[in-house]
Amino acid sequence: MEYQNVLVGISGGIAVYKVCDLVSQLSKRNKNVKVIMTEHAAKFVGPVTFEALSHNPVAVQMFDEGTDPIPHITLAQWADVFILAPATANVIAKAVHGMADDLLSSTMLALTCPKIMCPAMNTHMLENPATVRNIAQAEKDGWNIVMPEYGHLACMESGKGRLPKTDVLLDAIEQAAAEHPLKGLHVLISAGPTQEALDPVRFLSNHSSGKQGYAIAKAAARMGAEVRLVSGPVALDRIDGVQTIPVKSARDMQQAVEENFDWADFIIMAAAVADYRPKQTAEQKIKKHEGSMMVEFVKNPDILAGLGAKKKNGQVLCGFAMETENLEKNARAKLESKNCDLLIANNLTTPGAGFQTDTNVVTMMKLDGNEQLPLLSKEELGCRILKEMMEIRKGK
Ligand code: PMT
Repeated sequence: MEYQNVLVGISGGIAVYKVCDLVSQLSKRNKNVKVIMTEHAAKFVGPVTFEALSHNPVAVQMFDEGTDPIPHITLAQWADVFILAPATANVIAKAVHGMADDLLSSTMLALTCPKIMCPAMNTHMLENPATVRNIAQAEKDGWNIVMPEYGHLACMESGKGRLPKTDVLLDAIEQAAAEHPLKGLHVLISAGPTQEALDPVRFLSNHSSGKQGYAIAKAAARMGAEVRLVSGPVALDRIDGVQTIPVKSARDMQQAVEENFDWADFIIMAAAVADYRPKQTAEQKIKKHEGSMMVEFVKNPDILAGLGAKKKNGQVLCGFAMETENLEKNARAKLESKNCDLLIANNLTTPGAGFQTDTNVVTMMKLDGNEQLPLLSKEELGCRILKEMMEIRKGK
């Protein structure tokens, strides 16, 4: 998704005047631009200048009268990408230590979008071990750092500390925004096995660990999507920022997936759903008898086929196929009969593929052809699948 909303955070250094050009260039590129200034920044260039350049009110105070009561949350949610320029030593330190004592620092704490930090200051301040430590920590915390350039500084010294030119900052914004290509999209994923109860202590299931579905969920969240994960019983940790909906049987999974189907733009069925369940679930533990025992199975609903039948325009549906023979023929039949846009076929007998591994080897199938992918980590494969779904969505 193309980014639109750029939030510019300005802290108090001489380089504030250079940010006028950045805001102006962003507006010329038809981006929606909002500016937050610290009180010190507003002493270098007045908010009115940035209001004129951004065509939006400039926020300085946390509690401006008659405006939004929670501007730091509203602004953080609004932003597709955030740039802190210039970033002073003080504001970098606040960001790194999670301080929130004014509008800019509170907003930075609430951001979930890609964020860029552009330190600009006197060389000695920049090289002070505290600032060096803080910038390194900011990078570890997920900030994209645009380091300052060498040159003449306002303090009449020459050295490192100048805010880079507007073009460099614009490139950094483009690059950072590209990391969240799924922002604004809803991704629904199923993962893991189902358990079909025979009695209160026994069930029929399979070897799925959930790793593949969880890895796709992680990749989707990292790419900026809102993610709901319908998970069969697995021994994996929940993923931060992903809403997990635990289920047991195929019919539980069907209900959870269908309840969330209309919400979703992308739907990926990576779960290994049991095709059959015992016709009867005994209320008490089944006792051992002489001789053999017969269990009658009935068919479970085919969740993916049901979704394929009611898929709406704009929704992209991806199924998986786990095969042990005739991979391409069997998987293509599933792609077509279940009305999928994409089908990921893996073969249990291929080394590094299938159940419980951290890697997978798959053939990616669309109606117009196949692509054989190399051995990938399950998360890398998740990224590839999501990028392919974005392409399919563009063509719809
Ligand atoms: O969980 P891991 O240990 O990481 O293993 C990953 C995996 C092998 C489970 C995964 O890569 C995979 O292949 N998942 C699909 C397994 C499977 O059930 O394939 P299938 O060919 O039986 O089903 C085809 C498709 O229909 C699948 O998308 C499945 O979710 C769906 N289905 C199947 C049966 C059913 N009753 N309802 C369904 O929706």
